[in-house]
Amino acid sequence: MRVTLKQACALVKQGKIVAIPTETVYGLAASLSHSEAIEEIYERKGRPKNKPLTIHLAYRTQVENYAAVIPKDFDRLAGAFWPGPLTLILPAKKECVAPIVRGGLDTIAFRIPDHPLARQVLVDCGPLAVPSANRSGKFSATTAEHVEEDFGKNFPVLDGGACAKGVESTILTYCRKRWHILRLGVLSPEAFAPVLGYIPKAMPPPDKDAEIIDSKQEEKDRVPLTTLILDEEVLPQSIGVVVGFSDRTYPPSCRVFSLGVSTDPAGVAKHLYEVLHRLDLERVGKAWIDTDFPQGGLWMTVLERLRTWA
Ligand code: TXA
Ligand code: MG
Repeated sequence: MRVTLKQACALVKQGKIVAIPTETVYGLAASLSHSEAIEEIYERKGRPKNKPLTIHLAYRTQVENYAAVIPKDFDRLAGAFWPGPLTLILPAKKECVAPIVRGGLDTIAFRIPDHPLARQVLVDCGPLAVPSANRSGKFSATTAEHVEEDFGKNFPVLDGGACAKGVESTILTYCRKRWHILRLGVLSPEAFAPVLGYIPKAMPPPDKDAEIIDSKQEEKDRVPLTTLILDEEVLPQSIGVVVGFSDRTYPPSCRVFSLGVSTDPAGVAKHLYEVLHRLDLERVGKAWIDTDFPQGGLWMTVLERLRTWA
């Protein structure tokens, strides 16, 4: 059910959950002061209770209400990339939000999204808990239709059209005096070098007794509908369905789903989930993926997502 901005804000304030667009993917927005709304998010998504939600904000200064410590270079990162597709994890102030929002952890993830509708909801309603608007085990939603596929036609959605970026935000966390990548996303590791003076690496393994959260668990739990074949040894004609590029040719016997042009990683990222959704909707069974693309920048995120879902 499509709702207006005014209706979306009213619903959130009443303690209901509403799907809202962001520049990365759609999110399920819930008020931090309505714990029943937060509970409903976990239930509707089928999400494990120890997998925390990201707090979305309208203003950088709101971070101070929740964060116990502001680590080195936080202001530079926020200044350079917010509003935008970056999620930053900081130590949490005690009892600043219900433990369920944090999945019981003592840290909180923050993001200021760069989307006019998301922003207006956040300005009107205050900081909100917003995970991606998909059921656990399904791809993130990049259109209002995708949200409805997972949650039904009656679920309230603020429709902002197709998301501009199409994949999730990059997540950075501060540990051992450096920022580390917890999840690859729209921003490539190299994008942070001018701001940090180094390229953040993947998060090192946690200390022995530290609580482990696997940020890819949701994706790993995917209910496989289409099997993605990323093996270059396999011939596309033996599969019959290709996910490839519009500027390349494939065997004529193959049905081709195009991700866009092979020289435009941003366009490919934008269409990635759209194409994966179509494969599932059309029950193609198996699809051969053309992974002959560069290994750097946003391509790495595209490849990582494809591997996760394969
Ligand atoms: O682009 C995005 O980040 C989208 C849009 C809607 O903003 N949101 C999104 O949310 O992808 P979600 O919940 O699907 O993914 C957030 C990830 C999860 O893997 C969660 O475990 C991790 O962030 N996360 C959240 N809080 C965390 C914390 N305190 N420590 C470690 N990981 C955390
Ligand atoms: Mg998600």
